[in-house]
Amino acid sequence: MQLHPDISEVVLTEEQIKARVAELGAQITADYAGEDLVVVSVLRGAAIYMADLVRAIDMDVEMDFMAVSSYGDGVTSSGVINVTKDLSSSIEGKNVLIAEDILDTGQTLAYLIEMLRARNPKSITVAAFLKKDGTQKVDVDCKYVGFACPDGFIVGYGLDYAEHYRNLPYIGILKPSVYEN
Ligand code: IMP
Ligand code: MG
Repeated sequence: MQLHPDISEVVLTEEQIKARVAELGAQITADYAGEDLVVVSVLRGAAIYMADLVRAIDMDVEMDFMAVSSYGDGVTSSGVINVTKDLSSSIEGKNVLIAEDILDTGQTLAYLIEMLRARNPKSITVAAFLKKDGTQKVDVDCKYVGFACPDGFIVGYGLDYAEHYRNLPYIGILKPSVYEN
């Protein structure tokens, strides 16, 4: 497959992503042996990662979805989080695993964890596919992290810029010329 012309560099290839998701799935399977598990994905960015992650988990899981918006069309976090779609089922007394695409400032996850904790789940754990280095403004306890990545705007594997590039099978750096005008 040819590199998308708006991408300057591939940060993670499809093969690297696949291998790491398999490892995360195996770890989660071992950690939750004998337990129930609801995997909650934060739309839309984490949808692709979640679809891969649940298939790497070798046990019965429930899937549920939430949607929040914090970014608009820009490349920096606004810090304002809106819940635009809530979970479909109750999580009371259940083990919840939040599958998030990327932990940047941490504001989205911090807000979400607080909101879900109020519903009395048995546990809440986070499996972030990516964690940006040194950009966290609030502390979020992330038990599972796929990869640490350098600060810079990246797209692909669910991550977008203005709703584009989500379907790239790899993660790449978006050329600044795309958003700097
Ligand atoms: P946080 O609240 O700052 O941690 O932002 C988390 C959300 O911002 C993620 O779920 C992504 O949707 C989005 N985000 C953060 N960094 C990037 C990036 O480099 N590319 C695309 N989306 C990003
Ligand atoms: Mg997102």
